[in-house]
Formats: sequence, structure tokens, C-alpha cells
Amino acid sequence: MKFTHLAASLVASISLTAVAAQAADITYVSGAVGNAVEDFKTIVAPWEEATGHTVTLVPMPASTTDQFGQYRLWLAAGTSDIDVYQTDVIWAPQLAEHFVDLSEVAADLATEHFPSIIESQTVNGKLVALPIFTDAPALYYRTDLLEKHGADVPTTWEELTETAQMIQDAERAEGNDDLWGFVWQGNAYEGLTCNALEWVKSFGGGQIVEPDGSISINNENAIAAIELAASWPGTISPDGVLAYQEEEARGVWQTGNAVFMRNWPYAYSLGNGDDSAVKGLFGVTTLPTGGGNDTSAATLGGWNVAVSRYSENQEAAISLAMYLAGAEAQKTRTLLASNLPTIVSLYDDADIASEQPIIPQWKDVFLQAVPRPSAPTKTAYNEVSSLFWSAVHDTLSGNGSAAENLEILEADLQDVMGDGWE
Ligand code: GLC
Repeated sequence: MKFTHLAASLVASISLTAVAAQAADITYVSGAVGNAVEDFKTIVAPWEEATGHTVTLVPMPASTTDQFGQYRLWLAAGTSDIDVYQTDVIWAPQLAEHFVDLSEVAADLATEHFPSIIESQTVNGKLVALPIFTDAPALYYRTDLLEKHGADVPTTWEELTETAQMIQDAERAEGNDDLWGFVWQGNAYEGLTCNALEWVKSFGGGQIVEPDGSISINNENAIAAIELAASWPGTISPDGVLAYQEEEARGVWQTGNAVFMRNWPYAYSLGNGDDSAVKGLFGVTTLPTGGGNDTSAATLGGWNVAVSRYSENQEAAISLAMYLAGAEAQKTRTLLASNLPTIVSLYDDADIASEQPIIPQWKDVFLQAVPRPSAPTKTAYNEVSSLFWSAVHDTLSGNGSAAENLEILEADLQDVMGDGWE
């Protein structure tokens, strides 16, 4: 009797453990730009249904810089509260030690993705995170306003500056007082590194730190590029652009108050939403070239999922990461949010082509996109980027010329590099 009782309670406790192991609640942290939180629920629902697990999304600030600071604190403390982190393409070398190696479990899945993106998430042979979407910005332009004022889509930054000013002046003269020529991301954060890398690279001024680790930023072309951008705040862009991130720029654009906008593809589906004042009134093209150079530059962005080494639900967390990186979830995400897939075959998908035509159109743009120097600067990337965006932000704010600030930047970067990047 006693024995039976013991056995019965043992069975009960074992099956309880089994149920608990089967149904995990995975905590997922991610930035919340656009409709990211709502879309995530739709994207993840089939996985929850199929596995019986659930996901709790913890939304983070929109700024990738703020997210990075928070994630670094959690990971350094070894917290088990977060199972899966949504990670920016530039973070892999800096956070690699805290994440599970996915190279074996995702070996087959990885072959469906663009090899360069898998490579960007591989640190010393360890696959730190799985890609869920990639990013390469566009120049958004108002077809109605260009037509009304007889202007062409600009192909150089100099033309963009002129066209933006001309249309802004003409519209204001007609009483359209809130209209601005060009909105972009001028806040002192990672997004400004992306914008300014595009100006510099398209002017032939290099990539801040080159793939071989050499510091290249202090040069005439980079100076010319940043000087031109410094003429925008207060003329074709509001002074407030110096505090804009992606969402502030999109806010001005989507209420119909900008002729041009630099932003990522997520703004495409939102701009065509029913609540958008610019629905059906805009086109997208590649960012301009500058300084007599003939190649434009788009900074490579993108997001991934990484499983925490400190997670107590690793099996379910890995299953979720694999699902989010797979074709089904990526297709849903692309249809909802016009994020660029990292699965090669989705660029030939008929539903995507008809519902989000920017996607197939953007394949070459992202394949030629310029990476930020996170691979060569290794664990110093965040510091390098923050020195760069600060030098640019100072110049845009009128604190020193581009020549002065880039000279100081070069010296600061040399200090950070020491005898080599580590
Ligand atoms: C986008 C990009 C990301 C970049 C960020 C900057 O989210 O995908 O890579 O760091 O913008 O604001």
C-alpha cells in the first residue's frame, strides 16, 4: 500500500515534469519599431500551435543603441530571465560568448540563407545567431510632388539638396507650412552611423575602418560628404532631425510632410497602409551618389535571433529561433512588414512579388550593401561607432567643422585600436 502510494506519486511528479518540459514559455526580447509587436504575434502563432509552447515578447526601446546597452547588462549578469534575444547584424562579435552555438543544429537551415549573412553571424566558427531579416535603406520620394514641380528623382546628394529646397520653397509659398525637403536619422546613435556611412562611402570616402582594419575616415571625400549633410538641418530638414531616429522620420513622412526620406524597407508597407497620408503617392529608389562619384551606398542592416547560454529552456528556445529564421516565418514577416528576407528562394516568391514589390526590387541593393566595420573592429565596434556618430553629430550641430572633427576622430580611433583590434 505504502509502496503503491509512493510509486503513484513518483509517476505523478514525473509526468508533471514532462508536461512542464513540453510546454515552455519563452521570453523573447526585441525592439519595437513600426508594428513589430503586433506582427510578431502573427508570425509566431503557428509555432506556438505546433509545439504547445508560448512566447512572451518583451518590447525594448526602438533604438538599437539602447537595446544593446540593456542586453549587454543582462548578459553580463548571466540572467536566465531572457531565453531569446533579437540581435542587430553588427553585434555578433561583441556578444558571441553569451549565445549558444547554432552551427550544428541549424546546419541545413543555414544553407537556405544568403551565405554572406550567415557569415556575418559566425564568430570563430560559432554560429551566434540565425538571421530573420536583412535591411538595406531606400530613398523614398513623393511622386505627386516631383510631378507637380516638374522635378526628376535625384541621383546625386547635390541634386537631392537642390530639389528638396526647390519643392519645399514652392510648397511653403503656397501655404504648405509644415512641408520639409528631406527627413533622415540624425540622432546621436547607431542609426546616424548608418546614414553617415552612406554619405561618406558614396562620396568615395571609404568605410570608416576598412576590412583590413586600417582607419580611413580622415580624408577629403569624407569631409566633403559630411559638410554637405551639415547644410541640411535648418534648411531642407528640420533642426529637430538631429534628434530623429527611424520612427520620427517616418512620422513626418507618413503624415505627408516630407518630399524625401531615407529609411529602411519596413517603412514601405506602413507607408502604403490605410492610415497613411502618402499611400500610393510615393516611390523608392537607391540612395544618391555624391561628390562626382558614381556608386551609391546603402548600409547593410538586419536582425537575427540568438539563444542565451543562460536560458533554462534551451531546447524550446532553439526550436523558436529556427522557426523564426525559416521560410514560413520569414514569408509572413515579409508580407506583413516588408522586411527583406534572408532566405534566397523568397525573392522568387509570387505572393511576395505581388504584395511587396520592393522586395525583389531590393535584392541587388542589399547584396551590394556596405557593412559597418563590426567584423574588423571586433569587440571594439560599439566604441568605434559611437566615436563616429558623435563626430558626425557634432559637425551637423555646428560644433566644429568636418575636417576638425574627423581629425580628432582619427586620433581617438587610433587610441581605441592600440596595437590592433581585439
Ligand atoms: C535598422 C537596421 C540595423 C541598424 C539600425 C540603426 O534597424 O536593421 O542594422 O543598426 O537600423 O538604427
